[in-house]
Amino acid sequence: MEGQHAMNASVDIRSVSKSFGAVHALDQVSLSVAPGETLALLGHNGAGKTTLFRILLGFIAPDGGEAQIGGLEAGSRQARRMISYLPENVAFPKTLTGREVVELYAALKGVAKSEAGQALEKVGLGEAASRCCGTYSKGMRQRLGLAQAIVGSPGILLLDEPTSGLDPLSRQDFYQLIADLAGRGTAVLLSSHGLSELEARASRVAILRKGKLVADGPLGNLQRDARLPTRIRVKTAPADVETLHREFGGRRINGASVEVTCDPDEKMAILAAIHQRPGAIADIELIPPSLDEVYRHYSACEPGKEVRS
Ligand SMILES: Nc1ncnc2c1ncn2[C@@H]1O[C@H](COP(=O)(O)OP(=O)(O)O)[C@@H](O)[C@H]1O
Ligand SMILES: [Mg+2]
Repeated sequence: MEGQHAMNASVDIRSVSKSFGAVHALDQVSLSVAPGETLALLGHNGAGKTTLFRILLGFIAPDGGEAQIGGLEAGSRQARRMISYLPENVAFPKTLTGREVVELYAALKGVAKSEAGQALEKVGLGEAASRCCGTYSKGMRQRLGLAQAIVGSPGILLLDEPTSGLDPLSRQDFYQLIADLAGRGTAVLLSSHGLSELEARASRVAILRKGKLVADGPLGNLQRDARLPTRIRVKTAPADVETLHREFGGRRINGASVEVTCDPDEKMAILAAIHQRPGAIADIELIPPSLDEVYRHYSACEPGKEVRS
């Protein structure tokens, strides 16, 4: 297998359930990731994200349902060969250099050792490659974990909270790296505990709440289907603030603006009505719901509803 790269493969999870005693860590979860797709799996602590990864890796067996990697049963030897994994709390032997760590993983995967250098360059550890990883900062250790995961261009990449130790700038580099891999056909499944973390980088978003899948779709669809209110902020002459507030309601801000909250469907009609009324308008600002609000909506809604957009 030396130097052989994994083929494009997909992840398929059908009605997977897993309980630990009385805790339903996963309850009838169905999810798939196609080659070239990046799926972000979101959920609060304890939602079941890591359990799903461990099932895909074959570390634990589901109580019910099926998990397949490239059409093969999760955990089988061939299925495991297609997957690279970055665990939630990654730790490496402190006395090994960054290069030695990645070479070790390359050897375990049957990938040429020479690919370690490339992987380290890609994550920005080229310079630090010959230093003991015990001297690395948290962000550098996280990037080393990523180098270990991407060495050999895996068919499937499972990343459990990969951006948690990264500053915003390296987070951008991280998503660029993931996009490059996905562009070459890798199926990427990454977990995160907030939508705003993603910076709208994932092609699809799935949200787990207490073991149940409560949303699965492109981010735009999730935003639309959440039907969260948009805020319209109108800046006008102080004399007009009162009349505007009387006609449209909402709240007054600093005696200079009125902020009206409306349903997405009403937005255009309200804008037109504001435009037609007498009185000078200095500015109109539209404030759509934030990613945090969208995430809060789904992670708090009743399981079983709003699945698949
Ligand atoms: N080995 C285990 N033994 C007992 N309970 C577990 C075990 N693994 C996970 N759980 C429980 O299952 C639930 C889901 O955990 P986990 O998959 O780690 O969530 P997440 O990764 O989304 O934070 C939690 O309530 C957790 O305490
Ligand atoms: Mg976890």
